[in-house]
Amino acid sequence: MDNFFGDDFVVPTFADVEPGAGQRWSTWPAITPSERGPRPWPDWVVTSAAALDTELGILKTGKEADVFLIERAVPAGPPGVFLAAKRYRSTEHRDFQRSDLYREGRVERRTRDRRAVERGTAYGRTVAAVSWSYAEFAALSRMWELGVAVPYPVQVNGTELLLEFIGDGTTAAPRLAASRATGAELRALFDQVREILLGFARAGCAHGDLSAYNLLVHDGRVVVIDLPQLVDVASNPNGFALLERDCRNVCDWFARRGLDADAGELFADAMGVMF
Ligand SMILES: Nc1ncnc2c1ncn2[C@@H]1O[C@H](COP(=O)(O)OP(=O)(O)OP(=O)(O)O)[C@@H](O)[C@H]1O
Ligand SMILES: [Mg+2]
Repeated sequence: MDNFFGDDFVVPTFADVEPGAGQRWSTWPAITPSERGPRPWPDWVVTSAAALDTELGILKTGKEADVFLIERAVPAGPPGVFLAAKRYRSTEHRDFQRSDLYREGRVERRTRDRRAVERGTAYGRTVAAVSWSYAEFAALSRMWELGVAVPYPVQVNGTELLLEFIGDGTTAAPRLAASRATGAELRALFDQVREILLGFARAGCAHGDLSAYNLLVHDGRVVVIDLPQLVDVASNPNGFALLERDCRNVCDWFARRGLDADAGELFADAMGVMF
């Protein structure tokens, strides 16, 4: 008799668990340390090699990426976590105009890759998609470490970025654009957006695409998303114009709802903390 329960009983092991449809093994154990989020890792991050990733559906298709909801959990283990999986597309849908604007002053390191990106070949589009996911991961990691309200960047792997899911259960937090807040509540939202913009500015940066669509509101707390084009204001030839546009986009939105939000004032405050 090989085991205590008798010959017919097979002791279950992890080797018996196989990913089902819409599942894969957690990609966390296989990636390199630099592809994992900043330390200390929040205690909710699932690091077990026995964890599975389960696809729960699409949250939103965007211009350059699609965002999916996944759950990372150890089968029969403790409750897992929901993550937002942002997957950059390497198709011709990418807006190269916009890419060029932000890329000025940056260089793709390998000449062969740069030429492929410029020519827009299939290989070049994959290089571009991967470089956007790594750029967003780096930007989120840096801003997280500075205490700016961003989703925690769990990991990056090829064209896929895994982020802390901002929401309740499986429901994503609404965007600021959908908020009906007025009065003191609106003021509190503006103060947080201002703090986010100044957080970027203290690091010498502008978000570069800040608007009520890239700000999520969760239980009254504002979180900024969509950072791949984070702009270094001093070195980017469009830096000041992009910072000014960020200020204008958010101030106009608040002003239309009756708040006294002045873009010129916010821009001056950002410049004040930057230099
Ligand atoms: N961490 C997150 N938690 C919850 N929802 C998220 C998260 N990240 C993204 N989303 C959802 O996915 C949408 C698209 O995300 P994001 O803006 O980063 O991608 P995008 O491709 O730039 O989209 P768009 O073209 O609409 O700007 C967000 O508006 C939000 O609804
Ligand atoms: Mg967006």
